Amino acid sequence: MNKESFNIQGLGGAKTLNGTIRINGAKNAALKAMAAAVLFDGPVELHNIPDTEDIHTMTEILEKLGAQVTHGASVKIDPTNIDATTIDPKLAAIMRASIVLTGPLLARYGRVTFPAPGGCVIGARPIDQFLKGYEKMGAVVTENDCSYTIEFGGQGEGDPGSLGLVAGGMIRDPGVKKDITIDFEMITVGGTETLMMAAVLGNGTVTLNNCAQEPEIVNVAEWLNECGAHIIGAGTDTISVRGTAGKLLSPITPYTAIPDRIEAGSYLILGALCAEQLTIENCRPDHLKVLIDLLIQSGVPIKIDNGDVGNGRNGSISIIGNTKPNAMFRPFDVSTREYPGFPTDLQAQIVTYLTQVTGKSTVVENIFEGRFKYIDDLQRIGAGVTLDSSSKVSITGPQELRVTGNGENAANLLAHDIRAGFAIVMAALVAEGIFTVSNVYFIDRGYEKMEEKLRALGAKIDRVQSR
Ligand code: EPU
Repeated sequence: MNKESFNIQGLGGAKTLNGTIRINGAKNAALKAMAAAVLFDGPVELHNIPDTEDIHTMTEILEKLGAQVTHGASVKIDPTNIDATTIDPKLAAIMRASIVLTGPLLARYGRVTFPAPGGCVIGARPIDQFLKGYEKMGAVVTENDCSYTIEFGGQGEGDPGSLGLVAGGMIRDPGVKKDITIDFEMITVGGTETLMMAAVLGNGTVTLNNCAQEPEIVNVAEWLNECGAHIIGAGTDTISVRGTAGKLLSPITPYTAIPDRIEAGSYLILGALCAEQLTIENCRPDHLKVLIDLLIQSGVPIKIDNGDVGNGRNGSISIIGNTKPNAMFRPFDVSTREYPGFPTDLQAQIVTYLTQVTGKSTVVENIFEGRFKYIDDLQRIGAGVTLDSSSKVSITGPQELRVTGNGENAANLLAHDIRAGFAIVMAALVAEGIFTVSNVYFIDRGYEKMEEKLRALGAKIDRVQSR
């Protein structure tokens, strides 16, 4: 984990940034595609994978299991020599997404051991839906010292309770054919993806109800289908997976990650406050409809080019002639929801935006507990934000952001998680004065070379070693 900070010269409310930002592949799709590589009978090739810390962590986890991973213009993963089914606890502790590997590992090897996952410090983030789903599939879950082992009881025994999933290299036909329905008690992105992948090599059909509908899930499911999986309904609330009866997937088609809608949305919000002109290219405006509509209603001059996705051309979002002061933007109320609702991953950025518009706004966080830790930092630099409850903030704007106290830490801000980190950089850029944002590691987990992208627009931001 690096110990770096950003030094940022605030613009004092001026909108002087200008230029183009090219959006990378979606981290939250790429991580799942990397995990899915375990389901294949040979090396897979993954395109448009962002160069972020979470991708490096997933690489290390796969390597520790025995996979060969190479990073170049594309990422190549050869799962052939995987010889372990225990996910490294130290690595898993820093990234909750490691849990998605349990699905493919179980599907292929019939067992997996993993620690209670960590990840960003945003609420309790339980895994009950994964465990209940695995049990419904016939697996036995044992908990030992904060780690879980999941095993398909049928492994080698022909247990009729199991789905009959089989181990790569030791394929046997357990003769079990079982169709199963799993009803998620809440909508979970990782739960949907993981159980979907766990069912790919099975003998029966697994139907998942109350699924998450994020575009990242569709992106991975479509690729798996091109390589031999039978997944129907990804992108709707019901997904059914007919297993391949033990046949591993073939890497017929390389995977290409869709553009990162959260990266695009983050820069769009930043641009609304700090840029006179900004084009966000290589993105999917249709994945950001709620945000774009809100910003347009608020008064941000936005133009959309939807591209020609069917023919492989992504779109762009442009802010054009954004010369009016931010105080002329209108306030709004917004609540985070599962896709296609307003993303929790843009909540901190939109709160920061609303501190600069005139009037009262409220933001409700419905997905995660404890995702308002950054509010303290915003308050410290003068933002009119109050925490009404653990899931709701009220914002009264505009308040000029600036260094308020005299202490030696007055201008030191903290990146609490990936998205709050982005929001705090945004706040520092809007503010008057010079700021230090520490814990940049969190920002690096989800945003590739953020400071370089901002510098290209004219921002004064440097990466320095933390003191
Ligand atoms: N939940 C449970 N039990 C479970 C699973 C989830 O109670 O078994 C709860 C969670 O605690 C949370 C809610 O359900 O309150 C939603 O969690 P979900 O499983 O949907 O989230 P996730 O899969 O852990 C992914 C993204 C997050 C993003 C959320 C919501 C990845 C790697 N992470 O997390 O992204 O915020 O979906 O859209 O895909 C980020 O990129 O910064 C990030 C945090």
